[in-house]
Amino acid sequence: MSISESQPIVRMFNIYKRYEQMPALSDISIDINQGELIFITGPSGAGKTTLLKLLYMAETATAGQLLIGGVNLSRIKPSGLYLLRRKFGIIFQDFKLIPSMTVFENVAIVLEASGEKKKVIDSKVSKILRNVGIEDKKNLYPPSLSGGEQQRAAVARAVIGEPDIIIADEPTGSLDPESAKIIMDLLREFNEKGTTLIIATHSQDLIRQSRGRVIRLKKGQLVEDLL
Ligand SMILES: Nc1ncnc2c1ncn2[C@@H]1O[C@H](COP(=O)(O)OP(=O)(O)OP(=O)(O)O)[C@@H](O)[C@H]1O
Ligand SMILES: [Mg+2]
Repeated sequence: MSISESQPIVRMFNIYKRYEQMPALSDISIDINQGELIFITGPSGAGKTTLLKLLYMAETATAGQLLIGGVNLSRIKPSGLYLLRRKFGIIFQDFKLIPSMTVFENVAIVLEASGEKKKVIDSKVSKILRNVGIEDKKNLYPPSLSGGEQQRAAVARAVIGEPDIIIADEPTGSLDPESAKIIMDLLREFNEKGTTLIIATHSQDLIRQSRGRVIRLKKGQLVEDLL
């Protein structure tokens, strides 16, 4: 299943998401092109994380059509979903690091799953941990790291496999301004090489510091979509 360059990598048509009877997203239509930098913003509870979960297929829409790389998710088998998910690198709002694995192992697991050689894995993981500034923590377990260090490990895990799309849910939420800049520079570097970058954030500073498209949600509705 290859992602065609000529069509939007993501197409959302009139998407609704309800949890029980509560609407979390209402009538969202968005096209996203390969290589775009997109910020999803809006107040707490606006539906940012829900929108990202639909994109990386952790939740399914209640109504509407969602196409990823031209593939209509309502017409795909679980095995196809698995292949499609590998195109995403995800930085979760709550990190989701595996507590029983070291930082190194948490990041290496992505490359092991794609069958890389041990030597290549060792060098790539060391390099990315150095880039995010936690190489000295590589043999520690996530519960013994600070929130900011865990966030950096989560960023390393998301980018190590060079995914087509990086999805980041408040990727700098636990970081001081200096570390936030290092992480954003790293994410932007991937975006400049052609990776689609979709970031949910409250931070207007983060948005101002980059030239990107801004999608604003309010109470589950799209209220602004600005380039
Ligand atoms: N699993 C769930 N079950 C029930 N309701 C949910 C669930 N997940 C989210 N919601 C509800 O959907 C709405 C949107 O939540 P969402 O997490 O997408 O907001 P958000 O914009 O990411 O907020 P924040 O800025 O606080 O992260 C909220 O009202 C929330 O309570
Ligand atoms: Mg959220």
